Amino acid sequence: MTNNNKFIAITGAGMLALALSGGVQAHGDVTPQAVDIQGLDALGEEWLDQNPYGEEYEKRDLAVEVGASAYNQNCARCHGLEGVSGGIAPDLRYLEPGIDGDEWFKYRVVNGAVRDGRVYMPKMADYLSQEALWAIRAWLETKYVQE
Ligand code: HEC
Repeated sequence: MTNNNKFIAITGAGMLALALSGGVQAHGDVTPQAVDIQGLDALGEEWLDQNPYGEEYEKRDLAVEVGASAYNQNCARCHGLEGVSGGIAPDLRYLEPGIDGDEWFKYRVVNGAVRDGRVYMPKMADYLSQEALWAIRAWLETKYVQE
């Protein structure tokens, strides 16, 4: 098997796993899964520019744990299990740690991605709390891969 074929086979297996674990939906449809954010500091309605659950956060471990499951339930069907993208959407493991990555993360989850009237990514902040989304960001940072 060439490397290329291997990649396709692995991606296929990932898609199958996703299909079995909750149903693949057309882009744009959102069935948000409730995220249990108990124990994390409440953040209010106003969006922050920087992750309040960053590396310095005293309950970072909890944030990462909450984020891992929130990601798998709400983002993985497009961005891939464990953040490893099969190519449908960007591989979020490359998102820069720290404030630069935070700002871009916030921009996308708040605004989604719409091109030519087509929804490529829904405005996830309409469905998930700021707490849940920053927890996802905290988890993603632990998966960071330098380009
Ligand atoms: C319906 C599919 C879909 C879902 C669900 C989805 N995304 Fe996305 N996301 C995309 C696509 C497609 C893009 C690329 C948009 C573009 O570049 O125009 C994207 C882009 C992004 C980006 C910018 C990445 C970059 O490298 O520029 C971030 C950050 C992001 N998504 C985070 C999330 C998070 C966090 C969730 C879950 C809470 C999520 N997305 C759920 C499809 C999705």
